[in-house]
Amino acid sequence: MSTVREVFETMEYGPAPEQEDIALIWLRDHGHAMRPFVNGEFARFMDEVYFESINPRDGTPLARLVQCGETEVNAAVAAAKAAFPSWSARPGHERARYLYAIARQIQKHSRLFAVLESLDNGKPIRESRDIDIPLVARHFYHHAGWAHLRNETFIGYEPVGVCGQIIPWNFPLLMLAWKVAPALAAGNTVVLKPAEFTSLTALLFAELLQQISLPAGVVNIVTGDGQTGELIVRHRDVQKIAFTGSTEVGRNIRRKTAGTGKKLSLELGGKSPFIVFEDADLDGAVEGIVDSIWFNQGQVCCAGSRLLLQESISGKMIEKLRHRMENLRLGDPLDKGIDIGAIVAPVQLQRIQKLVEQGRAEGATCWQPSCALPKEGFFFPPTLFTNVEPASTLAQIEIFGPVLVAMTFRTPGESVELANNTIYGLAASLWTENLNLALDIAPKLKAGVVWINSTNLFDAASGFGGYRESGFGREGGSEGMYEYLVPSWERFQPDYEKQEVALRPYPSVNSTGNRHLEPLIDRSPKLYIGGKQTRSDSGYSFTVEDTDGNHISETGLGNRKDVRNAVEAAAKAGSWSRTTAHLRGQILYYLGENLSVRTAEFSNRLVSLTGNSRDEANWEVQRTIERLFYYAAWADKYDGDVHQTPFRSVTLAMPEPWGVVGVVCPAEQPLLALVSLIAPLIALGNRVVTIPSWRFPLLATDLYQVLDTSDVPAGVINLVTGHPDELAMILAQHDDVAALWYIGSAKVSGLLERESAGNLKATWVNHGKRRNWFDDHQAQGWEYLRHAVQIKNIWVPYGE
Ligand code: NAI
Repeated sequence: MSTVREVFETMEYGPAPEQEDIALIWLRDHGHAMRPFVNGEFARFMDEVYFESINPRDGTPLARLVQCGETEVNAAVAAAKAAFPSWSARPGHERARYLYAIARQIQKHSRLFAVLESLDNGKPIRESRDIDIPLVARHFYHHAGWAHLRNETFIGYEPVGVCGQIIPWNFPLLMLAWKVAPALAAGNTVVLKPAEFTSLTALLFAELLQQISLPAGVVNIVTGDGQTGELIVRHRDVQKIAFTGSTEVGRNIRRKTAGTGKKLSLELGGKSPFIVFEDADLDGAVEGIVDSIWFNQGQVCCAGSRLLLQESISGKMIEKLRHRMENLRLGDPLDKGIDIGAIVAPVQLQRIQKLVEQGRAEGATCWQPSCALPKEGFFFPPTLFTNVEPASTLAQIEIFGPVLVAMTFRTPGESVELANNTIYGLAASLWTENLNLALDIAPKLKAGVVWINSTNLFDAASGFGGYRESGFGREGGSEGMYEYLVPSWERFQPDYEKQEVALRPYPSVNSTGNRHLEPLIDRSPKLYIGGKQTRSDSGYSFTVEDTDGNHISETGLGNRKDVRNAVEAAAKAGSWSRTTAHLRGQILYYLGENLSVRTAEFSNRLVSLTGNSRDEANWEVQRTIERLFYYAAWADKYDGDVHQTPFRSVTLAMPEPWGVVGVVCPAEQPLLALVSLIAPLIALGNRVVTIPSWRFPLLATDLYQVLDTSDVPAGVINLVTGHPDELAMILAQHDDVAALWYIGSAKVSGLLERESAGNLKATWVNHGKRRNWFDDHQAQGWEYLRHAVQIKNIWVPYGE
């Protein structure tokens, strides 16, 4: 006779289907045809073109949707624009009430939302019911709070305006919530486009907005494919684009929005590592892998698709994993006992199949469990590749399917190298029972989220977003709120007059002036790279004149090679990013101290070059010293946060430096502007390649000696004099420059944003708006500190 244990272990699962009637009735009641939601109603437009949304379980059509074109998008943007003034002016408490009502409605209709989501997307009902929809409600609750607290928390900031939001198909309603909730909380209005494969829950959401009487035009939803998305991206009255999707489209959007002044946040692809050390709880790690790569069929931007195993446990883990994979259940997404549902659409299935074939052809070993695939619909079995080369297609390209590739490492150092060997940087999961090791590795991983002994944890209170080509900007928490706000002072900045940057190469000399009674000692300042004064690669100089046109000096004319050398020197100075904040603060204080000793010298220089009065020059030097002290003060106080996520977990939001940052200074206030830009960056651990004022570069070259005497390590501050716009372009194109700050013309701001799309570097440009460097609101503070770092969220669970 069988034992209870044997019966338990061999028992077959019976079907446990979730009733789908609730969603089918909803679809039937709408005649299986849905219209875009514009200005508070499901609007009818002339000459509508339709496309079909299908059920990935069996390929049957669910509903017809409108392919929105210019007419629909224009109407939606106009509605959002009209709704903005009154929505943004409402008291926070009123906006909070609406967001709270949305959260409550989501909860009340959660079953309908969950079933509809699984029908439309193919994800297991267990996931839509237990993860997606509860997180959606949580997001609106959390942001009801931010709506209330906006004015007292984000002092000096205001809403951006009309936000265009383009979302993908893998978490349709959840991605909507991630975008709509912070936008409304901040006081913006929205035009949202769901992905063409999965628009239904967004339209159900729109109905719910009608039920709670959200003012017309505050949220508009247009359906359609990438062309509809492009119309939103290009629309003149849209002030912000928030996009989640492929890196390719993200890059395209970066280029299209370049120079428009639109604020942009991009949450893009990933190839996230799942690292298992030899002392990890291996069974726990196996369950983690299931949740990491087979959650939502692996169609997750932060899926742990690269399994990195310490060599000593690799064989054992692969064996355990195969055993677990044999027990995964694949089938009807509405079956409550299913682990893996359907792939969203044929095109995605073909993409997975193609990449898997390519992996096989490249020599990797493919293993799949013996589960049978349903005869209809779009399914792909869980797949494990071993024998994978780190540089191969499988290890580098985002597959976005249930495909795991395993590699091995020997030492913790090697694990970090392998983990970071990707263009992406969205997430990482690491498994070890040694918390010291975990907390040592986590900061070394180039990823926006790190889960320790856990994976795929999300919460509205914690920021989510990528490093490198996984995009920029964060969603969730206060970090996410800033993506929907702008500093109030930015609105009122005057434009720079049209200024042509014309440098005069030596020997164009104009020495008719008579300001200097004695001849100056001839001096040709060089560049400052890696802590050394260096002759420019070209050997050319350019003439520096005072404002009266008197020849003052020839200064090294930097070129591409010089910028490259400077970036290399900055890259080598990585220990600055790891050193203590206390030391960075001390050095900034020391810089201030040494500058103050030379006040008269710098002040003289400012008088002789700029023609400013002695008082003005002294004031500039004093304010520069003050600014150095200001950022010295911040160096050990810009702490980050511990987020209140509803798990048994400490969620640490750690500000991390970008690494190498390019800084292009304006012509005016050559000392104060330069220091205002580089001090926050180095205070928070970046190394900078700086292009000083082209008109008055001598204020920067005079600083070399101050830097040398202030213990600034070689390579932390590099100064390349020359043509700012040319050098800025070189910085924008350089893959080792992680972020770029530029103050100059509107035209070049746009060009730089476009060029930076190459490695998706974060740019902070002024779009030709003048900044008053003496005004503390504009020239120092939170906005500078915020732009000087990227936030990594590290989830550390606790308890046995
Ligand atoms: P996609 O990036 O083309 O689509 C995402 C959204 O962008 C959709 O709403 C789409 O209509 C819209 N879109 C497409 N082209 C656009 C354009 N030129 N301008 C504005 N909006 C545009 O992603 P797709 O084709 O659905 O999937 C392709 C691959 O992208 C996947 O295999 C996966 O690797 C990656 N992906 C990553 C996601 C993530 O969450 N990071 C989500 C979806 C896809």
